[in-house]
Amino acid sequence: MPIPPNVILIGFMGSGKTTTGKQLSKIMRFRFLDMDRWIERKNKKTVRNIFKEKGEGYFRKEEKRAIRWLNSRNHYVISTGGGVWLDRENREKLLKMGMCVWLKVSAEEAFKRINPRLTKRPLLAGAKNPILKIKSLLRKRDPYYSLAHQRIDTKGKSPRVVALETANLFNAEGRLKNKT
Ligand code: S3P
Repeated sequence: MPIPPNVILIGFMGSGKTTTGKQLSKIMRFRFLDMDRWIERKNKKTVRNIFKEKGEGYFRKEEKRAIRWLNSRNHYVISTGGGVWLDRENREKLLKMGMCVWLKVSAEEAFKRINPRLTKRPLLAGAKNPILKIKSLLRKRDPYYSLAHQRIDTKGKSPRVVALETANLFNAEGRLKNKT
């Protein structure tokens, strides 16, 4: 069965999933959905407050609810939170829901981008040395992120360039499917 026409951006915090996703949705004329914002709207609380008041376990369940809501929708660009992909069940569902693209980022680059808004990231906010924490999370997570259909190294690229590269990958996949 062909994969439905959606693009799902995965990767670590600060990899540019949201900014790139917004640009990509304009280029492709697809709707845009940011999973964290969806969860915040449903709960009328920020991610930070959800973690604080209800705990990470509750937040992870809400991520699953967002995936269920998205299932069977088409023509969406979806930017996921950095932890969604680590759950095997989520991963298997997302791989069937659209073209999954890993936006790869180094620890240094992620830190540079996240640092001004560190308090919004509950997993990093309390860390004594955020860069070390990012490095250790990346070591654990990159092997999972690498299971996406596609990957783009974001190093030195603007979100627009990454969005254009993603659109090209999506079109190339479409062309290949038409040929067979
Ligand atoms: C998380 C990433 C965040 C948000 C939450 C947990 C993670 O999203 O979902 O703070 O586990 O990596 P972004 O990747 O959009 O920052």
